[in-house]
Amino acid sequence: MSDTHEIRKGLAGVVVDYTAVSKVNPETNSLLYRGYPVQQLAAEKSFEEVALLLWTGELPSEAELAEFTAFERANRALEPEVRAAIDLLPTDCHPMDVGRTAVSVLGARHPLAEDSSPESELQKAQSLFAQFPAVVAYDQRRRRGLEPVEPRDDLDYSQNFLWMTFGDEAHLEPAVVDAFRVSMVLYAEHSFNASTFTARVITSTLADLHSAVTGAIGALKGPLHGGANEAVMHTFDEIGIDASESREEAAARAKAWMEQALAEKKKVMGFGHRVYKHGDSRVPTMKSALDKMIEHYGRAEILGLYDGLESAMDEAKAIKPNLDYPTGPTYHLMGFATEMFTPLFIASRITGWTAHIMEQRASNALIRPLSEYNGPDERTL
Ligand code: ACO
Repeated sequence: MSDTHEIRKGLAGVVVDYTAVSKVNPETNSLLYRGYPVQQLAAEKSFEEVALLLWTGELPSEAELAEFTAFERANRALEPEVRAAIDLLPTDCHPMDVGRTAVSVLGARHPLAEDSSPESELQKAQSLFAQFPAVVAYDQRRRRGLEPVEPRDDLDYSQNFLWMTFGDEAHLEPAVVDAFRVSMVLYAEHSFNASTFTARVITSTLADLHSAVTGAIGALKGPLHGGANEAVMHTFDEIGIDASESREEAAARAKAWMEQALAEKKKVMGFGHRVYKHGDSRVPTMKSALDKMIEHYGRAEILGLYDGLESAMDEAKAIKPNLDYPTGPTYHLMGFATEMFTPLFIASRITGWTAHIMEQRASNALIRPLSEYNGPDERTL
């Protein structure tokens, strides 16, 4: 085996390009979108405003926001052909496969698909932003044998997402909408994570925006990345959710489960992060949204499970939760099916991916690293 080059497995610690979209600072546990702390954005801004910030670099004026809002509301419905394409997929396939296929179909049908001018790229990004909630809502409802619910243009993005998924007023209560909006803002962008890097690699070949997003969805599906939010819920299910239990009883069972899992050297999803080693900057904001949902739905035992796992992991390995840890139970309390959690992540991350696609396009170089060959030496037949 040759040792000519230093190999950084997983590109760990390798800086591959500049980005002005977001800044992750693991030393200070901070995350800035275009310079603004994500916690402040989550506290004060709509997801629509955050999306425009990521795409354009600036928060929108009132007129810009009104123009985008009108476009988003006018483009929410799925065409019958797209619904028909989704219906070709079995209702027991993974919903990430539905999301991946739907984006591919939306790309093939978009009149500007092969036009990569900055104006067209932005329009395609905004179309995907507007359409993807209907993909998630339609898919969850068809799996439950329910008729689709049409979008309502008197509702904002987060309200309408919940409306199309559940079709009831209970999900329009401000506490629920706000927790959902916070999750969308927090999931939107995180520099060169695996799926964003995938989108940039695909863009670097000069392929179209929908191809890059489709590939990014494939990368997001894995449990080491976006798939962790649903894996968290599988852990809760494995421990057992018992609504009659007290917070303390649930915490004790969760603690025992974690001790056993770590003794068996299991990786527990929702903990650890490649970049943050002292805690994920987004967790406190999402945890406070989860706390509000626990109070709203009166489910203290969920908090017990959450605390028990977190404290046992902290005591044993000092590994902190990542964003997927509080979002999993939040989406569960809202009534989303567990397998829909990662598609919710897509709906949000479409903003960050497409901002990176536009940035890559504006200053492109084909991404093509080298490898060190470690196979057999040259030999003859
Ligand atoms: N559970 C148990 N042990 C863990 C965990 C975990 N979740 N995460 C890290 N460790 C341990 C590893 O076993 C390893 O221990 P060792 O040195 O004794 O072998 C050490 O911590 C370092 O772990 P690595 O996997 O090498 O760290 P890396 O930086 O490569 O991993 C990763 C980061 C992949 C996220 C990892 O922490 C993990 O697999 N976590 C679970 C999956 C997850 O939650 N992913 C979501 C990421 S965030 C997001 O997408 C929003």
